[in-house]
Amino acid sequence: MSVKLKGVEHLFHLIEDFLEVWTINTGLKLGIFDFLKEHPASSTHLAENLNYRIELIQTWCDTMRACGYLEKKDNKYSLTRWSKNFLWRKSTTYLGFIIQSIDTLYPPFISHDDRFRRVKTFPSYSSQHMLDIVKTIAPIAKYVVPQLFSEAPFLKDDLNVLDVGCGLGSYLIAMAEQNPRIQGLGVDKERIIVQRAEELVKSKGLQECIKFIQADILNFNLSEKFNCILMSNVLQAFNIHTNIQLLSRLSSNLTEDGYLIILECLIDESRATPKYGVLFNMYLRMESLNAQTSTLSEIKTMLERSSFCFRSHKPIVPGLDLVIAQLAK
Ligand SMILES: C[S@@+](CC[C@H](N)C(=O)[O-])C[C@H]1O[C@@H](n2cnc3c(N)ncnc32)[C@H](O)[C@@H]1O
Repeated sequence: MSVKLKGVEHLFHLIEDFLEVWTINTGLKLGIFDFLKEHPASSTHLAENLNYRIELIQTWCDTMRACGYLEKKDNKYSLTRWSKNFLWRKSTTYLGFIIQSIDTLYPPFISHDDRFRRVKTFPSYSSQHMLDIVKTIAPIAKYVVPQLFSEAPFLKDDLNVLDVGCGLGSYLIAMAEQNPRIQGLGVDKERIIVQRAEELVKSKGLQECIKFIQADILNFNLSEKFNCILMSNVLQAFNIHTNIQLLSRLSSNLTEDGYLIILECLIDESRATPKYGVLFNMYLRMESLNAQTSTLSEIKTMLERSSFCFRSHKPIVPGLDLVIAQLAK
């Protein structure tokens, strides 16, 4: 890792490396690398033979493929030359023991086996757990919003912003601090989060321009129109079909020349380096949140099928992509 990396970027690289080691360790512990060396297999075949949950096996295989440890041909996964050399236990150059040794030193590495074997479907997070998550990610808005203003000049205009799945309202707050002409409405389903967001906004004296509603965005009808709709780290909570329905309904809340801003950690299929997106998806799945990291082409499909027109895409900080869309004419 380059020592020149600074601040937030450096931290993202550390997290990325940690997640990668964690995911490889899971494959070593569960014997998946060994199985695939002997029998190139589809994820379904692998899950059935080793008796693991298909959703996790599928995500694991795709993650390891994106990071260059597996290959996929005719729907079957197999080891790359590198993993055959170093991660296949019978190889004379096996080095997996170095990764596995962390298992004994660091508790979060333990107990993946259970998650892979449990047959139960994923429970969703409790309100308290979601609050802990949004508290953790809220500070990122401070780094992202200045970038957002340079990428999306319309944010400097008179804006009426709807923040869908707003969490603690950190994006609305940071946006209002940059442009006092912004009016914001945040919607979140968790009462405890909305209450905390209202307190935060009040403590900053922004209660006149930022309001919140507690509501489920999947069953929510709002007649008001906004010239900007923001969705930060929200699409990942739902599958592609639910997202298409959600976006279709939201399209009626956007003014004709308004903008949809999506901030998500996307899987970039073209990059050859380890991917924070897929690794983060793997982590979320192992930690029981039924999250779904998308590729850019999946986001484009969602937009097309919900009356939006894709305008631009840019990775703006490590692990967060900006997608801008407008209503299709
Ligand atoms: C990962 S957090 C992102 C928070 C914020 N947008 C950010 O980026 O800091 C996802 C948020 O979406 C909210 N959420 C999830 N499902 C929702 C639903 N069906 N209706 C409304 N909010 C929802 C959660 O409560 C949580 O606050």
